[in-house]
Amino acid sequence: MRLLLIGAPGSGKGTQAVRLAERFGITHISSGDLLRQHVRDLTPIGQTIKEYVDAGDLVPDSVVMDMLYKPVLAATEQGGYVLDGFPRTVEQAEAAYDVAHKLGAEVKASIHLDVPNDELVRRLLARSRGSEDSAEVIEHRLQVYREKTVPLLDYYARREWLVTVDGTQSEEDVHESIARQVSALAPPASVD
Ligand code: AP5
Ligand code: MG
Repeated sequence: MRLLLIGAPGSGKGTQAVRLAERFGITHISSGDLLRQHVRDLTPIGQTIKEYVDAGDLVPDSVVMDMLYKPVLAATEQGGYVLDGFPRTVEQAEAAYDVAHKLGAEVKASIHLDVPNDELVRRLLARSRGSEDSAEVIEHRLQVYREKTVPLLDYYARREWLVTVDGTQSEEDVHESIARQVSALAPPASVD
């Protein structure tokens, strides 16, 4: 099973990815978590991208693509992945498709977590994950989402399975709703 979670900052991508990984025995890969780990570990990548993450800007595509190549390949060989936070632009999706297609690792279903703006801001201010979650940077991240990531919904709706889930439900209900729809898209192989 190979899944993508698409949603605004605060829509619950990380929360749902953890549950989906556990439920379906697949690997959770979060581009944001990996990038923040590089910043904490002061790696060369971390030093290059800290400014972008702190400001709520997208880091350069090449950095993200290089960083994800090995984890995505490894996860594909071990039963699948749920990608959280990547791709984030149509350009990233197109580049990733070319690579994944050659490896037989294409996405099977994309899930859009739909949450209104006010609720996103409320959640992010309540969580407060450092400078990324200041009111100003939250507003910028949401703006970047609307400009760069929303066009991805159209892209996936035209070429792959895209399901939209009401992300304002409880965490449990969002999870069940995703699991139900994903299971319907990819029913388990018949045993008889
Ligand atoms: P990233 O880490 O992906 O951050 P984000 O998209 O801004 O989203 P968050 O992680 O803040 O929210 P989430 O949707 O995971 O929600 P969560 O489950 O945490 O990216 C960070 C940065 O890295 C980017 O700004 C960029 O700089 C860079 N980056 C990452 N990927 C990149 C890429 N592909 N290309 C270029 N740059 C990239 O939940 C949020 C809160 O809500 C939590 O407190 C949670 O408990 C709560 N919550 C969750 N679900 C519910 C619910 N159902 N009801 C009530 N509360 C809920
Ligand atoms: Mg997250």
